[in-house]
Amino acid sequence: MRILVVGGGGREHALIWQLVRSPGVEKVFCAPGNGGIASLAECVPIEINATAALLDFARKQQVDLTLVGPEAPLVDGIADCFREVNMLIFGPGSSGSRLEGSKIWTKRFMEKYNIPSAAFMDFNDPSQALAYLEKTNYPTVVKADGLAAGKGVVVAEDRAAAQRAVQEIMVDKVFGRAGDSIVVEECLQGEELSLFAITDGDTFIMLPSAQDHKAAYEGDRGPNTGGMGAYSPAGIFTPELVEAAEKNIFMPVLKGLRQEGIEFRGVLFAGCMLTREGLKVLEFNVRFGDPETQVILPRLSSPLLPLLLHTARGDLASLETPRWSPEAAVCVVMAAGGYPGIYETGKVVQGLENVQLEKAVVFHAGTTKKDNRIVSSGGRVLGVTAWDADLKTAQKRAYSLAETIQFEGAYYRRDIAHRALSR
Ligand code: AMP
Ligand code: GLY
Repeated sequence: MRILVVGGGGREHALIWQLVRSPGVEKVFCAPGNGGIASLAECVPIEINATAALLDFARKQQVDLTLVGPEAPLVDGIADCFREVNMLIFGPGSSGSRLEGSKIWTKRFMEKYNIPSAAFMDFNDPSQALAYLEKTNYPTVVKADGLAAGKGVVVAEDRAAAQRAVQEIMVDKVFGRAGDSIVVEECLQGEELSLFAITDGDTFIMLPSAQDHKAAYEGDRGPNTGGMGAYSPAGIFTPELVEAAEKNIFMPVLKGLRQEGIEFRGVLFAGCMLTREGLKVLEFNVRFGDPETQVILPRLSSPLLPLLLHTARGDLASLETPRWSPEAAVCVVMAAGGYPGIYETGKVVQGLENVQLEKAVVFHAGTTKKDNRIVSSGGRVLGVTAWDADLKTAQKRAYSLAETIQFEGAYYRRDIAHRALSR
């Protein structure tokens, strides 16, 4: 089979790293890929949002299956374009992608189908939003309705911070039209969990749980990032909670999607808060998590291809249950100095050739290959991942591996998996 993967981050590297081990995979293309992916797949210089060019490429290259990593092309409708011409693609169409592409649509959907979530109000007029901020409780959460590259959520400690968020999102339009309307919602307290289900709209299969660390600095402090590391499994996700997630979240979502006439073939990622009243959904994503994928996929001990293929074809019910290793995995993100603010790129990454790769892999995120060297090209540069019989050993090994890799300005959190290990 010939596969096209759209994207070029650590998540796509992990997906391709698993894909090339699946029997039946003959060739993998990645658009645009990165310096690490280039050693496993043929990277093609097509941007992720260039739908027409991607479709043209896939047809010319006789691609059998396309897998979309990031949300933006899905929200734009890439899957609809491929399906219209009978090309197999993993990922929901634009209507299903509203679960990630519009926070207001999703809040109303959750309300309609009784999916536990934070109480909310939505606004398309800044003066009404500001008036509401006079009377609500703090902390509160202000969210841009549309896609904002993971930056459109502000947990506001007080009224002034919430007012600033409304100003930036709705008036200054820092996220463009994504900020035409906003959600203001109750701030939930608890521990966050990333839950994933692969679904063809009828059947769903839950993947192992993971937790990521969004804050830039140790102790979960500092600005939010795309994710500074992750681990799997998440110890707090007990079998009772798995059952609750299936019954209270995934089943009603699928039922709701069917009732709305929306076909969904891909990943449903529920970012949840484990509150005192149980699991509540913070938001949905319609794609694999990054860096959660880097710790979930190394634990997959059956081939990845059938899972993707059955989903894309809509016959997940006939798939043999995937097998997962009981081992624990830890991913430590090595980021560029300054990230998530302003950072420099073009730094040569050293030490990659010496790394010990027994039960470990260095997933590349923001890298490119230049004159036979790997140089940084993004904020999150590498995802150093190790797995082992227990979380402590996996963590220790991921950190020893990270120590052997250098680039100017590199930094990483030293406490990935601390929550699970201190329990
Ligand atoms: P996102 O970047 O959209 O995944 O969301 C960013 C983060 O904002 C989440 O991972 C949570 O940490 C936080 N968040 C979002 N909604 C809420 C909420 N209702 N209560 C507390 N924290 C929230
Ligand atoms: N790690 C969270 C996300 O992928 O959105």
